Amino acid sequence: MKIGILGSGMVGKVLSKGFLGLGYEVMTGSRNPSKLEQWHKEMNNPKLSVGTFAETASFGGVVVLATHGTATVDVLNQSGKENFTGKTVIDVTNPLDFSTGKPVFAAALGNSLGEQIQNAIPEAKVVKAFNIVNCNIMINAKMQEGQPDMFIAGNDKDAKDWVGKLALDWGWNSCIDLGGIEESYWLETFAMLWIKFGAANNHWTHAFKLLKK
Ligand SMILES: NC(=O)c1ccc[n+]([C@@H]2O[C@H](COP(=O)([O-])OP(=O)(O)OC[C@H]3O[C@@H](n4cnc5c(N)ncnc54)[C@H](OP(=O)(O)O)[C@@H]3O)[C@@H](O)[C@H]2O)c1
Repeated sequence: MKIGILGSGMVGKVLSKGFLGLGYEVMTGSRNPSKLEQWHKEMNNPKLSVGTFAETASFGGVVVLATHGTATVDVLNQSGKENFTGKTVIDVTNPLDFSTGKPVFAAALGNSLGEQIQNAIPEAKVVKAFNIVNCNIMINAKMQEGQPDMFIAGNDKDAKDWVGKLALDWGWNSCIDLGGIEESYWLETFAMLWIKFGAANNHWTHAFKLLKK
């Protein structure tokens, strides 16, 4: 399986490493792939390539969305929507507006970013996942205090099963399926809880675990 990762930021780079670590072939994408050249050289891995958003979406059998939240629907247009047809699309984005300097939640119940993405590429199997932690934890979830749980949402069971297995490969205790893509709203607000705790405690390596009695 080839993985196309749309996003040249910290998350795109870390996830690229995470997939390479599992032996996948990866293409990492940007509007301007030349900005990834230096990083590509430093990574020095024959299984890694860089490309435009369209080249990357076309390359991936699975495509990951790691782009600026409020630009992500535009990125789908720039990538060629036909390049997502029938594919599992892992959405790690959060709908955050940074125009005031602080992250402000920019989605609504019934119109989460996950739903906007699924509506924009209806032939794709979008799974909202990994958006509730810092990217370094996404790919290495084993912590001193134990292994946290990942929470996901999406309409396609097989796509969610694939992402669930990926989460276990990256050290998560379990992957909890919240239901259809409309449940993305709760994952996106969950990310705000993660940010609130981080800002209040200046601590950015936390994650959540579900405990039952
Ligand atoms: N940072 C974390 O640990 C973390 C954790 C959980 C979720 N997330 C989410 O992951 C996503 C990526 O975060 P990040 O910090 O790596 O990077 P980011 O700065 O939020 O996004 C960078 C990517 O977005 C693209 N982009 C920005 N504005 C654009 C526009 N107007 N049109 C098209 N593309 C645009 C950039 O394209 P170019 O390549 O062309 O510059 C780049 O590929 C975000 O949605 C974020 O909320 C982040």
